[in-house]
Amino acid sequence: MKTERLTPDPYGIARAAELLAAGQTVAMPTETVYGLAGDARNGRAVARIFEAKGRPGFNPLIVHVPDLAAARDIARFGDEALILAQTFWPGALTLVLDLHATSDIAPLVTAGLNTVGIRLPDHPAARALLSRFGGPLAAPSANVSGRVSPTSAVHVLDPDGGLAGRIAAVLDAGPCPVGVESTIVGWPNGRATLLRPGGIPAEAIEAAIGHKLIAPSIDPDRPSAPGQLTSHYAPNVALRLNAAAPRPDETFIAFGAPGRFSLSRHGDLTEAAANLFDTLRRADREGRPIAVAPVPEHGLGAAINDRLRRAAAPRD
Ligand code: TXA
Ligand code: MG
Repeated sequence: MKTERLTPDPYGIARAAELLAAGQTVAMPTETVYGLAGDARNGRAVARIFEAKGRPGFNPLIVHVPDLAAARDIARFGDEALILAQTFWPGALTLVLDLHATSDIAPLVTAGLNTVGIRLPDHPAARALLSRFGGPLAAPSANVSGRVSPTSAVHVLDPDGGLAGRIAAVLDAGPCPVGVESTIVGWPNGRATLLRPGGIPAEAIEAAIGHKLIAPSIDPDRPSAPGQLTSHYAPNVALRLNAAAPRPDETFIAFGAPGRFSLSRHGDLTEAAANLFDTLRRADREGRPIAVAPVPEHGLGAAINDRLRRAAAPRD
């Protein structure tokens, strides 16, 4: 298959929507990372997503919708979910909610669960595509399973481990402004629970609902979010965290200081999140072990450190 490279002009959006309507997969820009989109109501299209990613079948996908009304057709919103949707959508927040029995979401999207992860992305190209397509789009990050998430069309098509030739098209809108995946919140035991730290800081979510989020229990045999798989965002080379300085053989990723590989020279967490995956990819290409400077744990730092810990976790 030759992967078409489309731009987010009216022709590109129409062509991407046409491919999706035909059950094909299209890499779509969002504000967080590029997603590999397919029609969430079409089991064959969803199967093509898993096939292209080489993804384990137990991992459920996020459904992207154009507006809150479309989300409420699919899943049941409790009071807190509604507050969060009204506060943070469109934006980098995924809500895991009970699926309506009448919904037409393909069972493969939820991996057979009776809950579904939903979000309304805040990116003009994603929103144009969703409204042109006129239906829900299932979209995991557009990378081969277990590898670093793509924050540009170049990453999606990377000859080393990308999806070129495995998907119908990529809609190229340049780099993703947020740069880490969405924050995932669910109510597994009736209480608001942080299932994955991400682009909306947990502190902001807690301020909106007026109480603390529960941290998930980590059970590696029953992953409910990718944050619970040990090695998930893996570069090829080894990674050492919280390094004050590099050893002679290491490529150093700085934070709060300049450098060839620096997440943010001024220590800005928003900039560091936007640079994270591209910096990891570039450092990986040096072929030497990577050492990363400490990143503070508050705000977007929680999502950055979560991805770095996973990148550093032992491989299987
Ligand atoms: O920012 C993002 O969230 C990006 C963009 C493309 O939207 N998407 C993304 O998708 O990161 P993905 O598939 O790489 O991660 C989604 C994770 C799944 O691995 C799964 O663990 C969790 O969301 N998830 C989805 N539905 C769920 C459900 N019903 N229950 C629990 N977790 C769920
Ligand atoms: Mg992913």
